[in-house]
Amino acid sequence: MKFLVEPATRPLSGTIAIPGDKSIGHRALLFSLLSATPVRVRGLGDGADNGRSAKAITALGGSIARDGDAMIIRGTGLDGMRAPPAAIDCGNSGTTIRLLCGLLAGQRFQTQLFGDESLSKRPMKRVIEPLAAMGATIVGPGGSGDVTPPLTIGPAARALTAIDYALPMASAQVKTAILLAGLYADGTTTVTEPGPSRDHSERMLAYLGAPLTVSGRRTSIATGGWDRRLAGDGFEVPGDPSSSAFLVAAALVAGAGEVRLTNLCVNPTRTGFLDAIAAMGGTVERDQPRDAGPEPVADLVIRGAAAELRATEIAGDLAVRSIDELPVLAVLAARARGTTVIRDADELRVKESDRIATTCAMLRGFGVVCEERPDGFAVEGNPDRPLKAAQVHADGDHRIAMAAAVAALVADGVTTIDDADNVATSYPGFAGALRQLGGTITVA
Ligand code: S3P
Repeated sequence: MKFLVEPATRPLSGTIAIPGDKSIGHRALLFSLLSATPVRVRGLGDGADNGRSAKAITALGGSIARDGDAMIIRGTGLDGMRAPPAAIDCGNSGTTIRLLCGLLAGQRFQTQLFGDESLSKRPMKRVIEPLAAMGATIVGPGGSGDVTPPLTIGPAARALTAIDYALPMASAQVKTAILLAGLYADGTTTVTEPGPSRDHSERMLAYLGAPLTVSGRRTSIATGGWDRRLAGDGFEVPGDPSSSAFLVAAALVAGAGEVRLTNLCVNPTRTGFLDAIAAMGGTVERDQPRDAGPEPVADLVIRGAAAELRATEIAGDLAVRSIDELPVLAVLAARARGTTVIRDADELRVKESDRIATTCAMLRGFGVVCEERPDGFAVEGNPDRPLKAAQVHADGDHRIAMAAAVAALVADGVTTIDDADNVATSYPGFAGALRQLGGTITVA
């Protein structure tokens, strides 16, 4: 599938309800499997990645039924999972496979997990090492010094052993895998992280009654004296800020009559991109802040002529809190005055594509000077002339395809974005939403 995107000829305008957050959706599905009572989940997104987690929980003995605008998930409780009838296909979804590793590490049956070409290249040692230290057996093919899918997990012969583990990288997927395995360990499992990775698991597991405590960057699961029961009435999945970032950026570069994006998760571990935009001089208003269960939500509103942006530096904790938005922030950097530097973002190398390489390649296609560095990149911005219309290859990476579509709005002709199918993993309605705001994008 390819996108053909024309330059915007007038400011964008309209109201869009962004689909449910992908990270929270995975957790709503996978954690509800552990619940002793049915859980009502509202607002799940329609992306293929969440669909992988949904299929996985039915393969493990859970069930999902639609009830009006909600899904009712009947779980198995902590100890009622059954061996899946076949290997579980995790598709393109790193969150599905890594969270399942944690969930399955302590089970008394064996499971096989596999994924698509991109997932089959992604590093799994980061979850396997701590889970193996807890007593789990997880094996997969080696290669380039790591372990990659397909993975064979278990069976576990006995309860897992609690560990106190310092994560080498800020990764919510690895943190969550260890916490989930900790539910099956005797004693207190503690994870310390070097940066503020998204904390949805902590919020949602606590809501279900898990024996979880957070102290600064240390999160513990203490199973001593616990009745091994998780239960909760339901989860509201707010809109996905990572999906919203593309439309926020579109409204900033093309200008906006008024663009309103409703009911978005504004958990501070997810809003680094808004802080980066503010540092660049862009204005995104948060309207109607409120709570949706354990997550804070708000509408985002962008108004006015194309933003006059200035270069910034994104590093440290800010790079962690904006990790999935860095490709689209790079597009904003290309429209900003000065050179924007992104550092401490080496995790980008192991996303759905090597996003340091693919972001720079995408920008160069638009005529932008982008210097690739080991842990990030530097983008020379120029707000004074349009980008060069490009022929982009998205490398099967949804976020590269959508970031390129934003850049195309301010190019000097029609841009073609090839290999954009995987936009369906997170935001199948992206092209429709951009069109609804007044953009001209064709799907071919
Ligand atoms: C995610 C965590 C992040 C993020 C990914 C989703 C999650 O990955 O990039 O898109 O839902 O836990 P890491 O855990 O590898 O940092």
